[in-house]
Amino acid sequence: MFKEKVKLNDGSYVYIRPLTSKDTDKLYDFFLNRILEEDLLLFKDNVKDYFLIKDWTENINYKRIFPIVAETEDGNIIGIATLHMREFGWEKDVGKIRVSICKYCRGKGLGKALVKKLIELAKERNLRVIIAEVLSPQESALNALKKAGFKETTVIKDLAKSYSVDTYNLHILCLYLNEGNR
Ligand SMILES: CC(C)(COP(=O)(O)OP(=O)(O)OC[C@H]1O[C@@H](n2cnc3c(N)ncnc32)[C@H](O)[C@@H]1OP(=O)(O)O)[C@@H](O)C(=O)NCCC(=O)NCCS
Repeated sequence: MFKEKVKLNDGSYVYIRPLTSKDTDKLYDFFLNRILEEDLLLFKDNVKDYFLIKDWTENINYKRIFPIVAETEDGNIIGIATLHMREFGWEKDVGKIRVSICKYCRGKGLGKALVKKLIELAKERNLRVIIAEVLSPQESALNALKKAGFKETTVIKDLAKSYSVDTYNLHILCLYLNEGNR
């Protein structure tokens, strides 16, 4: 398992490493205290539920979901990114990624560093394509992924309904690996 020291734009350092079964409390603290309320919509589960986080961390199957975290030098998780994979069927060489950065740590290059690491992991696993889904208010996510080489392929209008009355477009972005991006 790797542990990489990365320098952020503000001069601080973080460690990027896989999430492990020892991270339950740190990950729970991240979801409880460090993500924007509006980002909760992006998750398909209630990430403020301690027992859900315990279940995630204690049952990691790196072949299906490879989660990596960014940890500060004093041991706080400030970002998580996941590479979702399938072992069978047409999706077996297609990965899906998700990234979430601490609300206090944005704009420092951390999202870029986590996406870069996921792309590297996807290549090591011989994936052919990576897909990311972004909701329309997340301009920073669209920019961050496009800078990493993703291309927007589809926009599904008014697909996501927020907890208020708003609806958002779902943007699907793709990165083709090892065969030139289309
Ligand atoms: C998207 C997200 C991961 C970006 O993380 P971050 O650490 O703030 O991004 P970085 O500092 O690495 O910036 C990467 C690029 O994103 C763009 N970007 C970052 N913040 C931005 C902002 N507020 N507005 C516009 N563009 C922005 C910039 O182009 C930047 O590249 P540059 O520094 O070379 O100009 C973070 O905002 C986040 O967690 N968003 C909510 C979750 C989400 O939408 N995830 C995406 C679904 S996969």
